[in-house]
Amino acid sequence: MSIHIKHGAGMRGPVKLFTGNSNKKLAERIAAYLGVPLGNAEVSRFPEGEIFVKIRENVRGCDVFVLQPTCRPPNDSIMELLIMIDALRRASAERITAVVPYYGYARQDRKDQPRVSITAKLVANLITAAGADRVLTMDLHADQIQGFFDIPVDHLYAAPVFIEYIKSLNLKDLTIVSPDTGGIKSARAVAKRLDASLAAIDKRRMSGKDIQVMNVMGDVEGRNVVIVDDIVSTAGSLTEASRFLKDKGALSVYAAITHPVLAHPALERIEKSQLTELIVSDSIPMIEDVNNYKVKIRVLTVAQLLGEAIRRIYHNESVSSLFH
Ligand code: R5P
Repeated sequence: MSIHIKHGAGMRGPVKLFTGNSNKKLAERIAAYLGVPLGNAEVSRFPEGEIFVKIRENVRGCDVFVLQPTCRPPNDSIMELLIMIDALRRASAERITAVVPYYGYARQDRKDQPRVSITAKLVANLITAAGADRVLTMDLHADQIQGFFDIPVDHLYAAPVFIEYIKSLNLKDLTIVSPDTGGIKSARAVAKRLDASLAAIDKRRMSGKDIQVMNVMGDVEGRNVVIVDDIVSTAGSLTEASRFLKDKGALSVYAAITHPVLAHPALERIEKSQLTELIVSDSIPMIEDVNNYKVKIRVLTVAQLLGEAIRRIYHNESVSSLFH
């Protein structure tokens, strides 16, 4: 579907959508939804690795959106985003919105050990200092990260896209499972929309890669279960949870996880797991390695959701009504 975003009297300058290198395909899908061409910008590297950005069209007075999930390689993605925002600000864009469907470093959001950085806040400071006026993001690891910005943040959820797909599976005796106690609120919201029951896993993280599942609260025996989460990184949480749920008598185990970070050894783990299907969004491009593994991964696009949010921000319409 494509809606041709309109520009008229009383509105801001024309809307423009630019992208860095981290997820060009998603940018193209959003541009197609909005019915606008992608902005012309060069985002290249000097031989030693420094990033060079040149905006190759006039953006004076424009309402500019820059799509750049800060995914792998996260440091390059962040730096590209910062330099693009700086270049657009110096080129006199009227307003700049950083569209960051996946916000990297989000898991470093508190000082939970002595002498560590709150890197999620540092990245927020950098985006603001570069000159962003607003942020549009999706399924932040913790809702409170919105408060790390002193500029407006629109926070979307991929859940409506997942819910439509899960409905199409026609799963009977459905239970939505939160893989940790922190995710219960989001899991409950999905369960309510699907008229499903709710369960939650009590897990313990032994290291960055290793997880131990302690218990499951709620009934999963004889049920089809869907684990919902924000990030699948090494897939330790996901595959341990699936094993545990199967051991407890679950009929099938699906997972709906917004951001497919899929760091090594995620694909090996998923291949060996008892997971029926992993459902993810295209907030992050799918890892190329995926074709070397026998894994059932379904990618659902969030381009229309992001495109519609951009249209509403441009027209000063409510974004929160997108969740209903
Ligand atoms: C944790 O709180 C997150 O919601 C994810 O469950 C976690 O980041 C996934 O990491 P991994 O896939 O490495 O277990």
